[in-house]
Amino acid sequence: MTTQEEQTRSGLRFPAGFAWGAATSAYQIEGAVHEDGRGVSIWDTFARTPGRVLNGHHADMAIDHYHRYKEDVGIMAELGLSAYRFSVSWPRVQPSGSGRINAKGLDFYKRLTDELRQHGIDPWLTLYHWDLPQELEDRGGWPNRDTAYRFADYAAAVHEALKDHVHTFSTVNEPWCAAFLGYASGEHAPGRREPQNAIRGAHHLNLAHGLSVQAMDARRVGGCVNLYAVTPATDSPEDLDAARRIDGLQNRFFLDALLSGRYPEDVLNDLPFETDFIEPGDMKIIKAPIDVLLVNYYSRFTVSGAPGGKASAAAAPTDTASPWVGSEHVSFVSGGHPVTAMGWEIDADGLVEVLTRVARDYPPIPMVLSENGAAFDDHLNDGRVHDRERQAFVEAHLGACKQAIEAGVPLEGYFAWSLMDNFEWAWGYGKRFGLVHVDFETQKRLLKDSALWYAEIIRQNRRHE
Ligand code: NOJ
Repeated sequence: MTTQEEQTRSGLRFPAGFAWGAATSAYQIEGAVHEDGRGVSIWDTFARTPGRVLNGHHADMAIDHYHRYKEDVGIMAELGLSAYRFSVSWPRVQPSGSGRINAKGLDFYKRLTDELRQHGIDPWLTLYHWDLPQELEDRGGWPNRDTAYRFADYAAAVHEALKDHVHTFSTVNEPWCAAFLGYASGEHAPGRREPQNAIRGAHHLNLAHGLSVQAMDARRVGGCVNLYAVTPATDSPEDLDAARRIDGLQNRFFLDALLSGRYPEDVLNDLPFETDFIEPGDMKIIKAPIDVLLVNYYSRFTVSGAPGGKASAAAAPTDTASPWVGSEHVSFVSGGHPVTAMGWEIDADGLVEVLTRVARDYPPIPMVLSENGAAFDDHLNDGRVHDRERQAFVEAHLGACKQAIEAGVPLEGYFAWSLMDNFEWAWGYGKRFGLVHVDFETQKRLLKDSALWYAEIIRQNRRHE
């Protein structure tokens, strides 16, 4: 090891007990969509609808994790992970989204969590990572208030079955995406373009979060948000207003609700319709106490109130509308940072900003960085993937975590997105986020250089545990 490498690595020293993790989600990795009584989810339907997912990809097989979970846990152990964040597939456990529970579905998660615990890896369970049972969508989906109550029942069933296996339960992954990409832009399942229903959906996802926290009475429960650093392109009043709007809908709408029990007035005022679906008592439910906030961070938005930029920060691969309900006129411009293969700007300082902001503006709450990572165009050469850019990305963001901790932020862990290459939603298998390379034909797994590097950072940090 060179002196420089030694210095870099010793610079990434974290407090004892820091969770060293990686994350995945059910639909993106499991496959086995017709096995052991699993029901149909909105992503099965969406991926089978022509023109929705790039190249017509679907995740019937995904990366076959359902059958290869032992091998995958072995890889986690090889990396030295102390924690693994995964999601439960709602239609696997409750095929129609209400009523009968499928014991075989729950058994899979028992096998998985047993395997994890045998390897000393702490399972972090996410209840909802976007795979709504199709039958619930047929009854109105997230815009239908009843879906939130169905979710609480499902959460209680999962909690009851797995509470001896799992310490930390988290509710809804990235409610912003589920609501606005699913019901406003149509980029994600169920692919609807109904702005008013996106807001209704967002509220019901928040309500589902609160109701499920109450229904589980778990030892340790968390809520998850995807936060962005947001900067105005200039300090013109139009650009400042654009930044206020995007920060409002993306960040404050969820943070204020979960942590402070209210919606930001300015965001509600920007909406071109009534919000009478917010019923008395809802905000108290949504604010149900949680033990940890899961923050997913990828990028910074630079926004302008003047026309001329892109209508959305996420470069959708298929035809989509704007997810920015009430602020469709805002445009996204370059902030001058290098970008990943998704076209997302790389800005680790934004992570420090986001974490310190939560610590400063909200009631005290422990946090973990529950997703962080990047897609790049990887090349497999002679059995190696020299993904230096991904390594640099993780290194910079771990540095940002460290900076935030030193500034007093109670940050307790880091989960790389993703453990393995997988089905990247509307991009199908066209974007690779993994630390581990997956050959989508043979399902062969191979540690990329970034994984070897991450394992070394973990080893150095954990050797005194
Ligand atoms: C956030 C989502 O939770 C995850 O499913 C997705 O693959 C990554 N971002 C990358 O887009």
